[in-house]
Amino acid sequence: MDGNGRWAAQRSLPRTAGHRAAERTVIDVIEAARSAGVEWLSLYAFSTENWRRPDDEVAFLMELVRRAVRKHAPLLRARGIRCRFLGVTHPRIPPALAQDFADLTTLTGESRRMTLTVAFDHGGRRDIVAAARSLIRGGVPAEDVTEESFAAHLPFPDTPDVDLVIRTSGEQRISNFMLWQVAYAEWVFPPVLWPDFRAPHFLECLHTYQQRERRFGGVPPKQNGAP
Ligand code: IPE
Ligand code: MG
Repeated sequence: MDGNGRWAAQRSLPRTAGHRAAERTVIDVIEAARSAGVEWLSLYAFSTENWRRPDDEVAFLMELVRRAVRKHAPLLRARGIRCRFLGVTHPRIPPALAQDFADLTTLTGESRRMTLTVAFDHGGRRDIVAAARSLIRGGVPAEDVTEESFAAHLPFPDTPDVDLVIRTSGEQRISNFMLWQVAYAEWVFPPVLWPDFRAPHFLECLHTYQQRERRFGGVPPKQNGAP
């Protein structure tokens, strides 16, 4: 979800105004994804690198997310959306926010219409290092370390590989997002800034994805000798 700061700057507003405007997009995209039948949606809300931002912006984001989680909890539950939070680290995250994340996770734990993973204080490299540590601590012999056994040590190992990554605002970077899981993802980079991104933009991204031919390193079906 990128472009909040630029959205605000275009309007001569403080960056925080862009973050505030982003909330509406988040809800729009969640609703659009659910209606389209998307079963797994992940939102990259705050990275391990975002702590480098000015203290007041970080504090604003923590408070904004806290209020949004509380405000939208009933809607998320009513829509059958299972919510969970990837990356939340104690004690870096304010305890009250961590508690709200835990409460929403519990409140929506039985829902299965869609799983919404909010990456917060997330870093793909950190997850990979944590998985390596977990394997070593568990005494797993080197020859038993496979892609499958390694992936089982990542957080939320039931999450399928990522099919599509949408990064708004035209930036074309991974920025440490679910590095292991995006190995074969398709990428789209809509130029629109996140606060202006709406359901039709999201559906357009899905449409683009549907036009892509995914080969996973193989060859197209018509050229592999199959009828
Ligand atoms: C994304 O918008 C929001 C977060 C990373 C929290 P930015 O704040 O990165 O917006 P730009 O990149 O400065 O426009
Ligand atoms: Mg940015």
